[in-house]
Amino acid sequence: MAVTLTAVTATDSPTGVAPARVRELLETELETFARRHPKTRTLHERARASLLDGVPMNWMVKWAGSFPLFLESASGAHATCADGHEYVDLCLGDTGAMAGHGPAPVRAAVERQLARGITTMLPTEDAAWVGEELARRFGLPAWQFTLSATDANRFSLRIAREITGRPLVAVHEYCYHGSVDETFAVLDGDRVVPRRGNLGPAVDPAQTTRVVPYNDLDALEVALRDGRVAALLIEPALTNVGIVLPAPGYLDGVRELTRRHGTILIHDETHTICAGPGGVTGAMNLAPDMLVIGKTIGGGIPVAAYGMSDDVADRTRAAVPWVDADVGGIGGTLAGYALSMAAARAALGEVLTVAAFEAMLPLAARWEGGVQEAIDRHAAPWSVTRLGARAEYHFMPEPPRDGADQIAHADAELERLLHLWVMNRGVLMTPFHNMALMSPATTEKDVDRHTEAFEAALAALFA
Ligand SMILES: Cc1ncc(COP(=O)(O)O)c(C=O)c1O
Repeated sequence: MAVTLTAVTATDSPTGVAPARVRELLETELETFARRHPKTRTLHERARASLLDGVPMNWMVKWAGSFPLFLESASGAHATCADGHEYVDLCLGDTGAMAGHGPAPVRAAVERQLARGITTMLPTEDAAWVGEELARRFGLPAWQFTLSATDANRFSLRIAREITGRPLVAVHEYCYHGSVDETFAVLDGDRVVPRRGNLGPAVDPAQTTRVVPYNDLDALEVALRDGRVAALLIEPALTNVGIVLPAPGYLDGVRELTRRHGTILIHDETHTICAGPGGVTGAMNLAPDMLVIGKTIGGGIPVAAYGMSDDVADRTRAAVPWVDADVGGIGGTLAGYALSMAAARAALGEVLTVAAFEAMLPLAARWEGGVQEAIDRHAAPWSVTRLGARAEYHFMPEPPRDGADQIAHADAELERLLHLWVMNRGVLMTPFHNMALMSPATTEKDVDRHTEAFEAALAALFA
């Protein structure tokens, strides 16, 4: 049978842009990128001899250029690459540097602590201060520390299974909570299947996990009602597939259903801390049973935390045989180490303050406004969403309702072009979807640099 290939035109394409136009612009931008980065290219070629694909961590291959930028330095909201080009950083280490790069109070606290003991297997006063501050921000009384949000999530799930005696966990479809085995699951119709790219799973996630679309209380009720789900682990708003905001009443409904079915509700606020000093939980006055926060709280130094209600803490104490606490499957030699506690105290106490959020939120609103104006001016069938200090544009006229909706409207080539376009004009975006984050060091001028570049990109795409 003869197959006729027809070119997809701008009017046929769901993004409103013809793929051929994207490819044409991408070629030019890739050439520009390669020409402007000879030193980075040399470094990348050297690194290919000793690092898998020339990068220290596999997802760095996702940067939009022909090779990832090699960094010379980063300070505040700016970064400089090996070729000496300076960038406004709206990626901020995918939230690891939401406090800004090297904030002075964190640097000072770290320097002080370096001279006083880095890791000792003993608590310091800073740990108590950080626990008190997290309790104040998130409304949960008992805290533990880890080095990564991944570990904080893994340990929270273990505790939930232990104290409920139930085998399963539930997550939102297209969630991301770090490299937590149980969470790499999506739906194929009604079936739970491994998410594409899930490497060497120890156990088929269908055996461990129930998956529910975001914003779907009926599906959640079905997932929880047989009483086999120990924990529901959620970002209160999705941020890792693209920002997906809760429909009115959704998070209250989640709380009501988890309570009714005896499922531990865990809020992972690692990214959604962008909503305010207490994340979405604080901003909406929510009451999860457990809460995870990572990345931001050390101002760049590895530290994460998980907190629990009095009820969960009591049940945990009753369940944990302390004689075996060192081999129970939760822990970590450097977890809660002195240096990380000093950094977290400075980041929370002096950098990511209420006043800082009061400045960051209007900056994200300015970014959102600039992007929306460009979308309107060029009649692009796109939309923009914002969660506090973080905002994102989507290649769809209405913001997504759930993760599958966002995935269905993703366009990897167009995304790559837009990231590369702004990078060639001095702006770094997170290399996954189209998200920008503000730090206390970000300025209006920084935001406007993106708006200008984005406007020029749309002018080229929709000409
Ligand atoms: C919501 C959320 N939780 C957990 C993690 C895992 O963080 P880490 O890689 O620092 O363990 C991430 C990472 O992107 C995240 O976005």
